[in-house]
Amino acid sequence: MSPIKDSVQLAPETLMMGHGYDPSLSEGSIKPPIFQTSTFVFRSAEDGKRFFEVAYGLRERGPEEALGLIYSRINNPNLEILEDRLAVWERAERALVFSSGMAAISTTVLALSRPGDVVVYTAPAYGGTEYLFDRILPRMGVRTVSVADCDGGAALAAAIATASSEASRAGGRLAAVYVETPANPTNQLIDLQAAAAAIRALGVAEPPPLVVDNTFLGPLWQKPLQHGADLVVYSLTKYVGGHSDLIAGACLGRADLMARVAEMRTICGTITDPHTAWLLTRSLETLHIRMERSQANAVELVRRLRGLKGIAAVLDAGGAESAPDQQDIFRRQCAGPGSTFSIRLAGGEAEAFRFLNALRLFKLAVSLGGTESLASHPSSTTHSDYSPEAKARCGIGDDLVRLSVGIENVDDLFADLSQALTHL
Ligand SMILES: Cc1ncc(COP(=O)(O)O)c(C=O)c1O
Repeated sequence: MSPIKDSVQLAPETLMMGHGYDPSLSEGSIKPPIFQTSTFVFRSAEDGKRFFEVAYGLRERGPEEALGLIYSRINNPNLEILEDRLAVWERAERALVFSSGMAAISTTVLALSRPGDVVVYTAPAYGGTEYLFDRILPRMGVRTVSVADCDGGAALAAAIATASSEASRAGGRLAAVYVETPANPTNQLIDLQAAAAAIRALGVAEPPPLVVDNTFLGPLWQKPLQHGADLVVYSLTKYVGGHSDLIAGACLGRADLMARVAEMRTICGTITDPHTAWLLTRSLETLHIRMERSQANAVELVRRLRGLKGIAAVLDAGGAESAPDQQDIFRRQCAGPGSTFSIRLAGGEAEAFRFLNALRLFKLAVSLGGTESLASHPSSTTHSDYSPEAKARCGIGDDLVRLSVGIENVDDLFADLSQALTHL
């Protein structure tokens, strides 16, 4: 979009104000206008031909070749500005934005796999992701293997080795390893360096990409591409959007893999719209302030809640009650615990529902990462599709309540949780 060359020295929060946008191309407008258009006018028929050759992968873009826009299912200035800025946070070679987190995840997995392949994925995962892997991909001839990795990487490494050898014996491939860390809703961490090492140990010519859902910690507190991941996926609906007023997703990472994801996005039409992209670009300007404030609130709430009457456990990422290997992964992989954590209440569903129904400030809603605080009951909502065995394996009990902490006054939030605990 822009001829501006940004200094690589500038910090992401500085770059969020102008990176990828040149006001002189838009009448001096300080903010990018919304390019609410379906299609773009070519200056010549030759331009149209050139742009399509590159967009459809018929040839590589020339080193100095300037390309124009084509059609808003393929590209759009608001999308390109947003993608350039998202890539800054992860130092990714390329970013693509989608109409939802699930659109990003399903488009990415479809781009990487074909019938006869196997995909290994970690559990627990977001309910929609679990549904995609457990129910939809097998219908398309892609076998999926779910691993509850609770032992510091050994179970995942073993599953990767087994799936790869079984797949090649059957004439297929291990097409991808998909990891959600921290896992929704338990904050269970997966060691990305160990997963990447297990993939390298396969010794195959084209190793399966390691794809990481980084929705739960977001781009400030965990940078999977720097720990061995090839692709990162996001629900931008959460921290990046940050105001609970839009649905969107992203995939970022290695340029060669992103070219495959871009092809699938163009054909499946899972791109987002210019207005949503504009809202997300605006949200990115305050991302660090919102995430720092909500994390500070969450850390304080965890400190005050731990050991309180009615609270059986507090599940924060790498927190005091997690196993030593989880704390070790946290120290190596994460820059902060984020602002979504779960609590186990003394009792079961009845006590959890009484607690949730008594909350006044925390809104009873699924989703997370917004400016306002939310509470939910994963077992009966986002993870209700899990079988009783899978819930037990992954620690998603009826006593579990997930809290997404916003940027309100922390004393007000604590007072709300304390009064709700008296209703158990
Ligand atoms: C970890 C995680 N990944 C993916 C998604 C799906 O995102 P979306 O709702 O934007 O499709 C969610 C939604 O809650 C999530 O929590």
